[in-house]
Order: sequence, then structure tokens, then C-alpha cells
Amino acid sequence: MDLLVIGVGYVGLVSGACFAEMGHNVVCLDINIEKIQQLELGNIPIYEPGLEEIVKRNIKAGRLTFTTDYKTSVPNAQVCFIAVDTPTMADGSANTLNVEKVALALAQNMQNYMVVVTKSTVPVGTTNNIGEIITQILKQREVNIPFDVVSNPEFLKEGNAVQDFMKPDRVIIGVNNPDVITIMKDIYSPFMLNHERLIVMDVVSAELAKYVANAMLATRISFMNEIAGLCEKLGANIDLIRKGIGSDQRIGHSFLYAGPGYGGSCLPKDVKALQAQATSLNYSMPLVQAVDHVNTNQKKLMGKKIASYFNREGGLENKVIGILGLAFKPDTDDMREAASLVLIEDLLNQGAILRLFDPVAMERAKELIPSHSKSITWCQSEVECALGADALVLMTEWKQFRFMDFDALLSNMNGSTFFDARNQYQPDDMARKGFHYISIGRNPKNPTEFIEKENIRNYQEMEITI
Ligand SMILES: NC(=O)c1ccc[n+]([C@@H]2O[C@H](COP(=O)([O-])OP(=O)(O)OC[C@H]3O[C@@H](n4cnc5c(N)ncnc54)[C@H](O)[C@@H]3O)[C@@H](O)[C@H]2O)c1
Repeated sequence: MDLLVIGVGYVGLVSGACFAEMGHNVVCLDINIEKIQQLELGNIPIYEPGLEEIVKRNIKAGRLTFTTDYKTSVPNAQVCFIAVDTPTMADGSANTLNVEKVALALAQNMQNYMVVVTKSTVPVGTTNNIGEIITQILKQREVNIPFDVVSNPEFLKEGNAVQDFMKPDRVIIGVNNPDVITIMKDIYSPFMLNHERLIVMDVVSAELAKYVANAMLATRISFMNEIAGLCEKLGANIDLIRKGIGSDQRIGHSFLYAGPGYGGSCLPKDVKALQAQATSLNYSMPLVQAVDHVNTNQKKLMGKKIASYFNREGGLENKVIGILGLAFKPDTDDMREAASLVLIEDLLNQGAILRLFDPVAMERAKELIPSHSKSITWCQSEVECALGADALVLMTEWKQFRFMDFDALLSNMNGSTFFDARNQYQPDDMARKGFHYISIGRNPKNPTEFIEKENIRNYQEMEITI
């Protein structure tokens, strides 16, 4: 099938490449000329495991091309996926301006029947609104071109996006016209050969399902972060609580990790947008509001822990803090809403000197962090990050941080304190290595060594992340 994907970001590029991999002819369109020029040369603008090979293979096979031109690409497409960004506005609602601009451009250039699919996460009502925009423009053009709109929210996880797209848990399509179900089934059937995972519903429910999924995931994270605080007060261990409750099949293990608060381009934005849409309808959602509130506070937690620790030593002024990991989660270079950004701002405000390292996200981090600040040194490795540091903080659980050379870290540090925002290490083990170790929801006074041995950490499990 001839597909057009508009918006070549984390979602659009992965979708376009994976559709092409399954044999569809895909044109990917973006208004960012530089991005398109780079892609035409085979340079991938984002870090996403496995993506580069698929993009290069399908460019070579002639199934994947890139353009900035609506005029030439729209008339040839049978189905168009809109995957442009829908950022947060000041009131928390999602900005649908880019989506509307795409609808306009499609309507101006459409020549044959087309299915217009929203893959972007959009407030309920947007997909039907796209239909209205297109109808209006076609009327102005005095042409009678049939089209259908479909909502097809995307559920891929950055860092595992190719895998998720190739083997989706489910594909939701929201339709007004039952005739388009067959077209959508044809597109997605190669992705669900072993069993049907297409869920058909109305457009409004499909749009809402995306927000509800992210709000549910955010709720689990905020709930566990709140419980982690209680664990610290009571001397309980949040990791054991997670195991204890996660083994209940009704609860399950995923998304129950205490940490520095959820970030990324989706959860914070979508939780806010859901609230904003409810507010616009005079409907209050105190639970969703609390999830957001808990998360905002949680993002300040590591800064507070570090400040309270160094209070005993006269404050953070001129203390050197090394931060390991900047991306909002491992296996991505995405820095949007990363908890590290809040920590960095807090520490800089208190006069700390920072040494920063991330295996992949350094370039994107430099775009967001005040590089002109004399208080920041960008490092090339974990050991360089530790050089002269009074404390280290693990903010992103990259695999390469699991088995670091802790002796080398310690011998290069000025102090010996290690803050772990991801509970990656065992307290007794870190103490044996010579660190003063502070994590989340695990009271160091609680003797746990024999318990830790009983509960050997399962790193696979850790990978179930946002
Ligand atoms: N990133 C994720 O993990 C993820 C997962 C599921 C859903 N989503 C949703 O998918 C959408 C896209 O997210 P993303 O992270 O891929 O965004 P992104 O910012 O990485 O990419 C968006 C792209 O759209 C392009 N664009 C904007 N306006 C355009 C226009 N008028 N015409 C053509 N191109 C245009 C931009 O130049 C940019 O390259 C959002 O609504 C997001 O909420 C994202």
C-alpha cells in the first residue's frame, strides 16, 4: 500500500520505517528541511536501538523515501498517518496546531480517496475536527473527494520502539465508517501474524484510550513513589514491597519502580492534557491531578536528599556532584521532561559544581542545559564524571552503569557518597565497596543483606519501563 507518514520524529520515523519493512511503500514528510536532508543521506536524527538498520535497508530497497513537499506526496498516498508533535500549552492542554496545519495541507493537495489517520496523541475530538477542516477546504476547492478519518493512537515506548511497533501488544483503531476497517487491517496484518491484536472502536474512545493508558501508567509510578516515601519513614524496603504486590496477577510487576519521577515526551504531557480536557468540560479528576502533583514533587526529591546530606557539611556551595545519566530513561537520547533537568537546576541554584555524563543523550542535553555555566563540565565516561566529586548521583539506569568499576570511581572521587535515584544497587554491597549509599525507599538502617541474597535482582524486569 502507498502510505504517507507526516512528522518524522520518534513516532513518525519508527512507524514509517516499520511499515516499509513490512513491504509498504512509505513516504515520510517533515517540515524540518535539515532533518529530511540528513535522512536522505541515511543519517538518523534520533537514537533508537535497531532503527538505523531498518531505515537504511528500506531506503536501499526503494520502499522508504523522505520529502518536505506536500504537493507531490499527498496525491499518491492511499493512507496518511499524522505523527506530528502535540506539545503542552501553558494551561496543560495539548497544542493541536501542528495537526490542524497538516489537515489543511492534506485538504489542499488531496486528489483521490484517502484515509487520514491520527497517530499523534490528540485531545478527544481532534480526529473528527480534522475531518471538518478537510471537508471545509474541499468545499472551498469545489471538489468532491471522498475521505475517511481514523484514530490510531501509538503505544510504542522510546528505547524499545522498533520492537514495540513490530510486535504491538495491541493496535487500536477508532473509526466512523466500518469500511475503513479492512484497509487498516491490511496495513497492520503483517504485524500480528500469530494472533489478532486489532481492537476496533469509535473515534472518541480510541483517542481517550491513549490518554487513559498513559494516566494509568503514571498513576502506578506516582503511587509507588508515594509509598517509597512511607517506606523511608517506616524502615520498609520499596523493592520488597514491589515484589510482594507485583506477584499478585491482578497487579503485575511492571511500572512499579520507585524513582526520580516520570519524564519523557508522553506521560507528563498526557496526564496534564487529560486533566485540561476534563477541566474544560467542568469535570474534576482529583486522582489524575494528584498523580501529576506527586510526580512534580518526586522530581525534586533527589535534590532535597542531596541538599539535606550536604547541610551537615555547610551546604552545597562549591561541592562537586557527578551525575551519571541524563536521558529520561535508558536507551534513548530523549531529554524531554527528564528528571535530571530538575535536579541540575536545583543543584546549580545551590552553588554546586556539576560533572555530567550520559552514554547517548549528551548532545540533546547540551541543548537544554546552560552550557555557558562555568559550573558544568561535560564528561566522556563514568570515571571522568567521578573525578574530584564529593558525591555521585545515578539518574538514568543505562545498562553500562550496572557493573561499573566502582574502585576506579571511588579512588577518583573526593568524597564517597553515592545517590541512586533508580535503586540499581544493593545497599550492603555498596557499603562494602566503600560508598555511603543513599537510594529511594530503602532505609539503610534496616539490615537486609541476607534478604538481598534471597531476592537476586532481576535486571530483565527492570527493563519494563516507560
Ligand atoms: N515519543 C513517543 O514515545 C510517543 C509515543 C506515543 C505517542 N507519541 C505521540 O506522537 C506524537 C509525535 O511525537 P514524537 O515524539 O514523535 O514528536 P517529535 O517532536 O519527535 O516529532 C514531531 C515531528 O513533526 C514535525 N512536524 C511538526 N509540524 C509539522 C507539519 N505541519 N508538517 C510536517 N511535519 C511537522 C516536526 O518537525 C518533528 O520532526 C505526539 O503527539 C506524541 O504525544 C509519542
